[in-house]
Amino acid sequence: MKIGLYPGSFDPITFGHLDIIERSARLFDKLYIGVLNNNAKHPMFTVEERAALIKEVTKHIPNVEVSFFSGLLAEYVDVIGADAIIRGLRAVTDFEYEIQIAQMNHELNSRVDTIYLTTSTEYAYLSSSIVKEIAMYHGEVTKFVPEAVAFKLKEKANKR
Ligand code: PNS
Repeated sequence: MKIGLYPGSFDPITFGHLDIIERSARLFDKLYIGVLNNNAKHPMFTVEERAALIKEVTKHIPNVEVSFFSGLLAEYVDVIGADAIIRGLRAVTDFEYEIQIAQMNHELNSRVDTIYLTTSTEYAYLSSSIVKEIAMYHGEVTKFVPEAVAFKLKEKANKR
């Protein structure tokens, strides 16, 4: 059984992430979404909130499982027995950062490689940070994130 691991902050999940999840779920028997539990990054959503949203918007994909991790990704890969790490690439700027991380992860754990899927062009400009900023200014985000996520973003914006 081939196991993939798609790690990230997912603060919150966007249509760009969902696109990568749907496409990589077809490439693996099982796909773990590894949600980074790291408060040093000061996420807007708690790890439980992020995981609950991912579960909600991926419930139509049977071979997806949401999990948490803290610490090194190169070690977590062994904990769940993943064969590959999946990451999405939007642009050359992503590539510069991602190649460094992939090489370091391979150095730390030579068993695992990173596979990149290029983001579908309609989502190439999307990022969680930009979506959060739009939402905090009460902008419309339903084009960028699933409805459940847009609802939670509105709640956060109204609380500020
Ligand atoms: O969605 P993001 O924030 O781009 O995801 C980044 C993530 C979670 C993949 C990366 O920060 C990570 O793997 N963090 C775990 C700590 C770690 O292993 N760092 C060393 C990488 S060289």
